[in-house]
Amino acid sequence: MKPELTLHERTLKLTRYPVRKNETLQAWDAADEYLINHTQEMELDPKRPILIMNDSFGALSCWFSQNCKVTSVTDSFITKKGSIANLEANQLPHVKIVDCLADLPDNPQLVLLKLPKNNRLLTWQLQQLCNLLPKDCKVIGAAKAKDIHTSTLKLFEKFLGETKTSLAVKKARLVFCEPDSALAKPLPAPQQWDVPEHNLTMTNHANVFSSDSLDIGARLLLDNIPQDGKYTEIIDLGCGNGIIGLKAAQLNPHANVTCVDESYMAVASCKANAKLNLETPEQLTAMVANCLEDVQHNSADLILCNPPFHQQAAITDHIAWQMFCDSKQVLKGKGQLIVIGNRHLGYDEKLSRLFGNVSVIAQNNKFVVYQSGK
Ligand SMILES: C[S@@+](CC[C@H](N)C(=O)[O-])C[C@H]1O[C@@H](n2cnc3c(N)ncnc32)[C@H](O)[C@@H]1O
Repeated sequence: MKPELTLHERTLKLTRYPVRKNETLQAWDAADEYLINHTQEMELDPKRPILIMNDSFGALSCWFSQNCKVTSVTDSFITKKGSIANLEANQLPHVKIVDCLADLPDNPQLVLLKLPKNNRLLTWQLQQLCNLLPKDCKVIGAAKAKDIHTSTLKLFEKFLGETKTSLAVKKARLVFCEPDSALAKPLPAPQQWDVPEHNLTMTNHANVFSSDSLDIGARLLLDNIPQDGKYTEIIDLGCGNGIIGLKAAQLNPHANVTCVDESYMAVASCKANAKLNLETPEQLTAMVANCLEDVQHNSADLILCNPPFHQQAAITDHIAWQMFCDSKQVLKGKGQLIVIGNRHLGYDEKLSRLFGNVSVIAQNNKFVVYQSGK
């Protein structure tokens, strides 16, 4: 795997975050290269902001930070950490990094928008831009050509303005959009739905996992959360909207519950859901982190986890593995990790290798709930 991006006689050394031995995935893609090449001849005002939305590991922030006033907008803590590490490694000036729910700087001259996988997030960001952008601001989207559908372009037309696309280069394509303030509307409220069988009402910002309904895996895990006075510290790892942590808090009212996710929108939703659903919302704390990197070792009695199986666009089980390894360190002696997984993912083999024990506590034709003890 090549860690160096060389374009226009300039080289950046770029790594993904966290850095892994024998990494096989690159920290940038052909859409980043296309954006850099396309903007190379543009005359940019060094004092007027440019917005970089959904950068992966900071390749675009690194490229533009040298000569431009960059604000990077991301829903991902991993992107934030990766961008900071890459800026430092290349001795580049810091850029402002804000989450997707934050106010954006006024009067940007250029928006570089890496298209997110999730159309709900794209819609939200287009509406946010439509409320903000001056008419002369250039908006350039970029993605793999196979991920830009007619429906994607219709979202641009509906929520931001007139839209055209480029030819494909190295299987990537650009999207050009002219902001039209006549299309501006108030930003939509987060999605809300009830789970009456568990007496929960869930509110979800745009980029939250399974934001329009209860995930079928989460449903099986919800039915298998233990209730026991021995649990005083419980963690919901990869919490999304916090549904698992909320149920654990309801079943174990004397326990402190910590919900952890790398998505800012997930953590914001989780905090809102604690207020909506818990008699004592302070029972639940929600934090943005990469797995349990920042959590004290030997501190938790029970960790509940519905792991992700992709990082940004890449399908991978390395996050699940990091979650299991971190859990082992963060659990107290005799603490328990409960994991839900699609049957074909084979988490039992990983858990058994790491903990030396694994048992099945529930299953259906698609999912299995495993338990390992420290
Ligand atoms: C399968 S979803 C589970 C969401 C929720 N717990 C549920 O059951 O509906 C996995 C979650 O892990 C989060 N995630 C992905 N990578 C992470 C990481 N490195 N650290 C913490 N959370 C992460 C995702 O943002 C997502 O919310």
